[in-house]
Amino acid sequence: MSEKAKISYGGKEYEVPVVVGTENEHALDISSLRSQSGLITLDYGYKNTGSTSSAITYLDGENGILRYRGYPIEQLAEKSSFIEVAYLLIYGELPTQLELQKFEGDIRNNGMVHEDYKRILSGFPSRSHPMGVLSSLVTSLTAFFPQSLDPNRSPEGVNLSIMRILAKMPTFAAWTYKHKIGHPLNYPSPHMDYCSNYLHMMFNQPGTEYEVDPVVSNALDKLLILHADHEQNCSTSTVRITGSSMGSLYTSVSAGINALWGPLHGGANMAVIEMLENIREDGGDTKKWMDKAKDKDDPFRLMGFGHRVYKNFDPRARIIKKAADDVLIKLGVSDPILDIAKGLEEVALNDEYFVERKLYPNVDFYSGIIYRALGIPVDMFTVMFALGRLPGWIAQWKEMRENKEPIGRPRQVYTGYNERPYKPLNER
Ligand code: CMC
Repeated sequence: MSEKAKISYGGKEYEVPVVVGTENEHALDISSLRSQSGLITLDYGYKNTGSTSSAITYLDGENGILRYRGYPIEQLAEKSSFIEVAYLLIYGELPTQLELQKFEGDIRNNGMVHEDYKRILSGFPSRSHPMGVLSSLVTSLTAFFPQSLDPNRSPEGVNLSIMRILAKMPTFAAWTYKHKIGHPLNYPSPHMDYCSNYLHMMFNQPGTEYEVDPVVSNALDKLLILHADHEQNCSTSTVRITGSSMGSLYTSVSAGINALWGPLHGGANMAVIEMLENIREDGGDTKKWMDKAKDKDDPFRLMGFGHRVYKNFDPRARIIKKAADDVLIKLGVSDPILDIAKGLEEVALNDEYFVERKLYPNVDFYSGIIYRALGIPVDMFTVMFALGRLPGWIAQWKEMRENKEPIGRPRQVYTGYNERPYKPLNER
């Protein structure tokens, strides 16, 4: 018999079922609480609210554990490839050789986008932020593939939408950048692997054939793996909630891109570099900036620090810190802001304010330093995050649709006026 928990309020007791996950996480299923008692639960920012059950990603913030479909992130980052991880997240198992070949082949064959995309792009001013352009291009896939809007499409049809977005997103990302700097656009190269193809579209220029450095494409591949999923974060919850209204994959992913953009979420990687640059230009006094971060009257926060769920360390940050050292050495790049970042981290890890609040470097603290070493411009960093997070968004959208989850619709506690009569204009 399943366990029950008792909630007592106003002299009455109500029973709610306890749900237990495969890692022995316990949750109170309060869905019947309102019909039993008229009570709702209130949890700003959903800090302690499970919105769904999911078999995709396991995260234990206290112990710094992250696993995709049961596989530890450390092993995937070391041994797997982004495409293999994308398959794992979306379909639930690591692919066989044959499955991987087909998956890669389907992605290679779908990278081209309609020539009219050039006209769409030309409408964006060059000062547009790449995230806004990217989300618009993804939404506009619904115009080129209107069948994708049908929520009751066959599994084959859904799969085609998945292949298309996985394949076209690198093209959109690279074209967004090329358009911004006013350079001619490069077409996707079906003979290249995912990351090399993207880098080629980003950096190839007419007359000087761009040769993809394997150090660069491997580093990018690892970064994308580390960003590929992170259970019910802000953007993923947005994807699921958009999809819950029977929103299509493309509209849901586009919503996710917009949710990711903010500096408290994916936009942090860009904000970290801007912050480190400011500290450097200001003379490199890390203590002064730490004091600013601790001052409650100062809106400044140490970007790349802190996490809603990791309260010990972010396992992705550990892998990335080491990768940043390796990549910079391999590429022969020396970046003064890497030293500033390490100095800041050292001070923060020994500072009472940060220790008390369990604030540690997160995935974005060092990722921007690697992107910079790879030649990616700062305002494209969050686009890189979106490229990495895409398989996670797809997997979560697919799971939510396959589970036939109900439309997402939270409740609220109303704090406004009670009923009052309308006043005509001349009486106000
Ligand atoms: N610098 C200074 N103080 C901080 C920071 C920070 N980066 N992060 C949290 N705090 C303080 C905060 O002021 C609060 O203090 P107090 O208890 O005295 O009011 C306490 O720590 C708890 O913070 P919170 O805002 O309630 O925590 P949260 O779980 O709501 O926010 C966070 C998590 C990631 C939004 C936050 O830590 C933050 O703003 N970090 C900087 C932005 C950042 O790096 N974001 C990337 C997150 S990882 C990538 C991703 O998955 O999106």
